[in-house]
This record gives sequence, structure tokens and C-alpha cells, in this order.
Amino acid sequence: MDRYRYAIGERVLGDPDSALRFDQPWTGTPPASLDQPLRLVERRGCDPRPVDPTTTDGQLTLTSYVWADWAERIDRLRAALRVAAPTPPPVDRARAAAWLPAQLAASRPGTVTVVWHSVVWQYLDRDERSAIRSMLGEAAAAATPVAPVAHLAFEPRRDADDSLRFELTLSLSPGTGEEQLLARAPGHGIPTRWATDPVPGDAGQRGSSRPGRGYRDCATTSHCGGSRGAGQGTAPG
Ligand SMILES: C[S@@+](CC[C@H](N)C(=O)[O-])C[C@H]1O[C@@H](n2cnc3c(N)ncnc32)[C@H](O)[C@@H]1O
Repeated sequence: MDRYRYAIGERVLGDPDSALRFDQPWTGTPPASLDQPLRLVERRGCDPRPVDPTTTDGQLTLTSYVWADWAERIDRLRAALRVAAPTPPPVDRARAAAWLPAQLAASRPGTVTVVWHSVVWQYLDRDERSAIRSMLGEAAAAATPVAPVAHLAFEPRRDADDSLRFELTLSLSPGTGEEQLLARAPGHGIPTRWATDPVPGDAGQRGSSRPGRGYRDCATTSHCGGSRGAGQGTAPG
């Protein structure tokens, strides 16, 4: 994410020269200061079947996942592939539950370890989900103010009317460790609506997939959205 350019209001975040640009991708105010510098010091992910974005085969595979008439998503993916080409993030061939223990084994003072996943939970069986919950619980219990652990997820949830809503949630430890709703978005990521931006008529403010700012529901552009935020990060799926 630090390799992409984001125009947010009048300011630019991320890499201003990036080939991949997001123009006003969110509405509302994020629950964090945008003035706080963020430096990713390491990133690593896992996938049972990783796709190499630097090979022609890998690029073709990833492109085949985008519907052919969604030109803006294809453009965005091609830009993401150009960004990834010189230094693709490492993605280990592994299932999340087998991979996470080694990633969480060591405390890393001075950094925040971020375990991040998007649209992966539904593919895990009950045992793997349960194992990951336990690992995250142990990592949260071992977190300290100098080596915090964050669990950041963008996953679909069933609503009361049985429709799917995609929610961005965060659990940060130490602290309450409780899951906070940060934002909602369409299934492919943008436009993102921060939870601080209520939807008219939605008393519960349970989010929105209202289109806005010229975006259709469009894809996240990384194959495996892992990052070690302000320090560490891990990405199952
Ligand atoms: C719908 S894709 C989401 C990809 C990406 N995270 C995104 O948001 O665009 C689901 C991914 O989960 C991966 N996956 C499936 N089972 C997994 C597991 N047990 N551990 C880690 N990743 C898994 C799949 O291989 C696939 O790449």
C-alpha cells in the first residue's frame, strides 16, 4: 500500500510517483491521524497457491480474474503489476494456520505487527479458523506497548437481511483487543466509507456500498494484501 499513490482531499499519501493511483478512494474521516508517518519495514504473505506477478503466466492468471469489461480494474491491475515487478512482496506457499506461528513467534520491539487478510476467511475450514483465532489471541496477549499486534481484516459479513456487507475491522493489542469496525466498502474495495461517515437512513450505520466519486465496485489490486505496518505485517491469503 505504501507503493501506491492516494489523492485524499488536497493531499497525496503513499508514493506520489506510483504507477497505481487512487483518486479520492474513500469518504468520511479515518480514525487515525494522516500526519503520523508510517513506514513499512517488512512485508510477507502466504497462499496455498501463490501466483508470481513477475511472470507472463502469473500476470495472465491474475488478469483472468478480472471481468473483461471492467476496463478500470484491468488498468489498475496492470499498474499494480508494474509496481510489483521490481520487488514483488514475498508470498510463501502455505496455508495461513501453518504459516502464522513462525511469523508471530518473535516480538519485534519498535514495530507494529499487522496480521492482515482480505476475502480469505470464507475459504478456511472450521479447524483452520479456530487455530488462527487461538494464535491471534496468544499474539494479542503477548503484545506490549513497544511491540503491539494488530489484526486487520476486510471480510464479508452476513447482514440481518442476509445480504453480504464487506467490513474493514481492527483489533489492536495491547488495549481492549476488541474488534472495531473501521469502514465498509463494496466487495472489491473502493469506494471505502469510513465508519465515521454515516449512510443517510441507516440508523445503525452498518456501512454502505453506495457508489461514489466515480468509482465502480472495483478490485483490490494486490494478490496478497500483506504488509508489516509501521514495522511488521503478515498476510494470510
Ligand atoms: C478471493 S482471494 C483474495 C485475494 C486477496 N487477498 C484480495 O483481497 O484480493 C482468496 C485467496 O485466499 C487464498 N487462500 C485460500 N485458502 C487459504 C488458506 N488456507 N490460507 C491462506 N490463503 C488461502 C486463495 O488462494 C486466494 O488467493
